[in-house]
Amino acid sequence: MKRVFLETYGCQMNVADCELMAGVLERAGMELVQRPDDADAVILNTCAIREHAEQRVLGRLGEFAHLKLRNPALIVGVAGCMAQHLRKRLLDQKRVLDLVVGPDGYRNLPDLLRRAASVPVAELRLDRDETYGDLEPRRGAGVRAWVTVQRGCDKFCTYCVVPYTRGRERSLPIAELLGQVERAAAQGFREIVFLGQTVNSYHDGAHDFADLLRAADRVAGVLRIRFTSPHPSDMSERVVAAIAECEKVMPHVHLPLQSASDPVLERMQRSYTLAGYDAVLGRIRERVPGVAVSTDIIVGFPGESEADFLATRDYMRGARFDSAFLFKYSARPDTRSFKMPETVDEPEKGRRLQALIDQQHQISGEIHDGWIGREVQVLVDGPSSRGRGDAQAQLHGKSREFKTVVWADDGARPGTLRRVKVVGATPVTLLGDSAEAPHEAQLVTIGDRAG
Ligand code: 5AD
Ligand code: SF4
Repeated sequence: MKRVFLETYGCQMNVADCELMAGVLERAGMELVQRPDDADAVILNTCAIREHAEQRVLGRLGEFAHLKLRNPALIVGVAGCMAQHLRKRLLDQKRVLDLVVGPDGYRNLPDLLRRAASVPVAELRLDRDETYGDLEPRRGAGVRAWVTVQRGCDKFCTYCVVPYTRGRERSLPIAELLGQVERAAAQGFREIVFLGQTVNSYHDGAHDFADLLRAADRVAGVLRIRFTSPHPSDMSERVVAAIAECEKVMPHVHLPLQSASDPVLERMQRSYTLAGYDAVLGRIRERVPGVAVSTDIIVGFPGESEADFLATRDYMRGARFDSAFLFKYSARPDTRSFKMPETVDEPEKGRRLQALIDQQHQISGEIHDGWIGREVQVLVDGPSSRGRGDAQAQLHGKSREFKTVVWADDGARPGTLRRVKVVGATPVTLLGDSAEAPHEAQLVTIGDRAG
């Protein structure tokens, strides 16, 4: 058992967990391979946030079942949130699955894999103390390093499966995190992204998220710092001040709203009212001039009336988010809202979703048009996926506001900062001096973004 193929679904935390698993496996002498056909074991790192995410994984498992017919010694494992969520139900699929491991079981992954070679194995204990703080991840290529500062969630929003799949909230000690940031910078990563389910509720007993931002801001070699996702209720004055005052902390905040109707927010148990959210948003915009703000919205939550929906639509129209991730409500077993009768049928959810997509598209387009003629500072990611046909080679990177910028390849190296004049825009991309084929990223991801 040597060669392992890892594939990840869901949020950025899962991507970071894969890097953690990769580190654990490599230290145990195992090799990571790029294709399932080359592997002795395949592990899917899964998401449970919406039913659609689980269906995709089940489809992929079907493909691995075929592979296993050809290679009966192949070990097939499911890791992550769906493993934790479906637990024994997954193990019952005995013909295919050899390993089911939840988010707190990765430390012993090599051993679990070895055991799974002879008998199906499940490791699904949630461990209040497991932070993996001492385990060095094997970071993927690129200019951006993900640093998980906190695991689990204590908020228990009624629609959300995360507290059940990832367990209670726990923060890593600040010293360990700063060590990770320093090592990532020494390895050449230029942007640090702090990750947590409610990242701004970070507290290691002595330091809060503001302390973490301010300390990371002083690490040499780091050019930019980002974080996702904060919770509106934990957006303290201290945190807003740190975002405003730290030079390397970028002016972009992803602030999930979910709904702009107070009765819906109440049933979601989001712990804020619309007025409370709006005050936080106002404070951020006042203290961080030019800040870009993105959000998450769920349509069709149980009991969401037409008036509730219109309140959300109208608030979004006034708030003018730079972008929004828009989702149809998906009832998840184990959560509290699972027991609430669904009142919005599928076609109506689709109609509400589409109305918000159209409106947001318009707003994002207008905001991006406003950038035309201005210069942006871009951290260069690298070559852009080629445009149409014989289009000229292009580079892409992110502006300080986390907007994707594409421009004609001028030899700028990945990981460097570059000033680019904006000459064109789409609702999803800013185009630099070359007005060549736009790089069509996704503004609105339905079902894929998570966490
Ligand atoms: N149905 C639909 N969307 C959900 N989200 C979380 N749980 C659900 C669910 N059950 C969305 C929220 C969250 C984002 C990561 O996913 O908007 O902020
Ligand atoms: Fe798990 Fe939630 Fe991330 Fe999905 S979005 S992988 S459920 S933490």
